[in-house]
Amino acid sequence: MPYDVSRSSASLPFVTIVDKPRFGWRGFMLDEGRHFFGKDEVKKVLDMMAAHKMNRFHWHLTEDQGWRIEIKQYPLLTQVGAKRKSKSLGWAQLEPDTLDYDGFYTQDDIREIVAYAKDRFIHIVPEIDIPGHTQAAVASYPEILACDPEKPHEVWRYQGVSTDVMNVSNPAAVKMSTDIIDELIPLFPFPYLHLGGDECPTDKWEQNSQCRAQLDSIGSDNFRDLQLNFYRQIAAHIAAKPKSEQRHLIFWNEVLHGNTDMLPSDITIMAWIGKQPAEKAAMEAARRGMNAILTPQIPYYINRRQSKLATEPVSQGAGTENLEAVYNYVPMNGVPAELADKYMGIQANFWSEYVITPEFLEYLMMPRLSAVAEAAWTPQECRDYTDFRNRIRTLKPMLDAAGWNYAPHEFVNDPDNQSAIDAD
Ligand code: ACM
Repeated sequence: MPYDVSRSSASLPFVTIVDKPRFGWRGFMLDEGRHFFGKDEVKKVLDMMAAHKMNRFHWHLTEDQGWRIEIKQYPLLTQVGAKRKSKSLGWAQLEPDTLDYDGFYTQDDIREIVAYAKDRFIHIVPEIDIPGHTQAAVASYPEILACDPEKPHEVWRYQGVSTDVMNVSNPAAVKMSTDIIDELIPLFPFPYLHLGGDECPTDKWEQNSQCRAQLDSIGSDNFRDLQLNFYRQIAAHIAAKPKSEQRHLIFWNEVLHGNTDMLPSDITIMAWIGKQPAEKAAMEAARRGMNAILTPQIPYYINRRQSKLATEPVSQGAGTENLEAVYNYVPMNGVPAELADKYMGIQANFWSEYVITPEFLEYLMMPRLSAVAEAAWTPQECRDYTDFRNRIRTLKPMLDAAGWNYAPHEFVNDPDNQSAIDAD
């Protein structure tokens, strides 16, 4: 953090501090598929994480709306897939604009950011979200990836869940996926690799004769199993590598809807759906012997609106995920003792459908990231919102010194009073 300590002096008595984090996984996820923030902003995010002793940066690099990492064997992924014909994303009454939009990280950029993160004791977990959320990749290589290559495919200009998913039954699509992973592994020298797996509609597989035949051949009538069978092949490819190049795989919780016996036993499920007790999908994963990370949409999607004030900029949600709601989330609520070891930790997620500028990213992130960081570090019995809210106010000079934008609501006495916020 660019915080000039030489400008002030302080003295402290000798003390002994006995402290340790509650969770080993203290994560933050940034979606750059929908909007691209660039190297300088990612470094700023890493600084903010480090200042909060957060140690896992989950980098969501691919989406229907954009592919953001250079892959040398497949240059069209960025020549085509990193560009789209709309800066903002259409949704409901909102039509896409017609502005050219693009952005991606070269492999040199990635190495620079990985080194920057390592210096701050942060592991980067890259996510290549396959086989759903892949419309940008399908538009780049329809002849390999599309279920219907004869039809037109474009990088998506809308929000939502696209049905234009990869044809997992095409051996060339599996080969392309493992080729991509072969390039990713040396770039990210950390133990985990995230392969996504959320929100993957099976409509196109159901219409495709190659997919139907493969489903028969694996003896299933659940189209989700095609996805699991696809991961099985990727996992086998990774397992055949030398030990230093192997990675533990992470998936979103939808993967549990398929036959997970096809996957290695050491996978981790990121649970975003499901209400307490601690969240249902995570508990199901733990019962199946997998590891789990809690990333509950409500309230840990900190791109959502954080106040009900009418002046609040447009983002997802109704404003109920305010600082207090985020702080008061109780991780591990109701987890039986015999499953507790399976829970690796917690993570805040940031999706960027509505978030185009770094300023808005920062505004939504802070101070809610502080609330998640405290839950990740501090035992539940030592946490108290009133105390936190008083302490969080001391963060303001640090945020100002770092040139970081933030939501002002909780830095004034009445967070529901717009004129008090404006006057501050
Ligand atoms: C997700 O929110 N689709 C993981």
